[in-house]
Amino acid sequence: MALEDRETGVKKPRQIDGEMDERWPLKPVAVPPPEDGDLDEVYEPAEDTCLLLRAALEEVSADDVVLEMGAGRGLISKSMVPLARRVIATDINPGAVRLLRREGIDTIRADLFSGIRSRFDLILFNPPYLPTGEEEVLEGWLNRAFDGGDTGRDTINRFLEALGDHLRARGGRALLLVSSLSDPSEVAQKARRVGLEVEVAAAEKYFFEELLVLRLSLPGGPTPDLREGRSRREGTPREAI
Ligand SMILES: C[S@@+](CC[C@H](N)C(=O)[O-])C[C@H]1O[C@@H](n2cnc3c(N)ncnc32)[C@H](O)[C@@H]1O
Repeated sequence: MALEDRETGVKKPRQIDGEMDERWPLKPVAVPPPEDGDLDEVYEPAEDTCLLLRAALEEVSADDVVLEMGAGRGLISKSMVPLARRVIATDINPGAVRLLRREGIDTIRADLFSGIRSRFDLILFNPPYLPTGEEEVLEGWLNRAFDGGDTGRDTINRFLEALGDHLRARGGRALLLVSSLSDPSEVAQKARRVGLEVEVAAAEKYFFEELLVLRLSLPGGPTPDLREGRSRREGTPREAI
């Protein structure tokens, strides 16, 4: 929801800073109506959405403050709301931001973590991951849902570089959807280079690609049940990558 400065009345994007619970709730302003074409320009939930959602349902705890990066139409964020302490969504696509706010989800329009200074217990991201040449770029915002640059890893790499600064030092973790089309082992190596621990939380094969959910955490962070190599809810063994 956009915010109005109580003194000046000026509308400004919500920024998360420091202890969110002290600053929120701030005064909400009217949610802008959706514009024609918003739905056409926002990624429709697909197999990748469902795999990340299933992993998130296993991972989330009632105490978690959750950030969903690139939330699109909001299926994952909405599913997290009853299960987490707080859920914040972001997207770079203004049409997605309008849809998410209409769904009543606290949403920030942001390019990855820009303007976001807080740390979170759980960060979820189904990023644009398709290797995309210049001639394949689509017109309009929908392109941002798919276009991962030449290797498919442009947005993923920028996300990984900033992720450690936004995970809660104790127990913070992220679930990142990756595809065999954008080389998950390169993603895992990059994550390790920036100081994160990497496990495979979920994987599923389709006829043209394999989708994986990587669980990323700061070293020394996992809770005891995760240290035993099992997830919290169903005891699924975690694989290395
Ligand atoms: C594959 S779609 C996933 C949408 C939704 N989370 C889902 O799983 O159905 C990727 C989403 O990330 C958003 N996105 C792409 N680049 C972004 C960036 N730099 N910062 C924030 N969001 C971004 C896109 O607009 C899109 O909504």
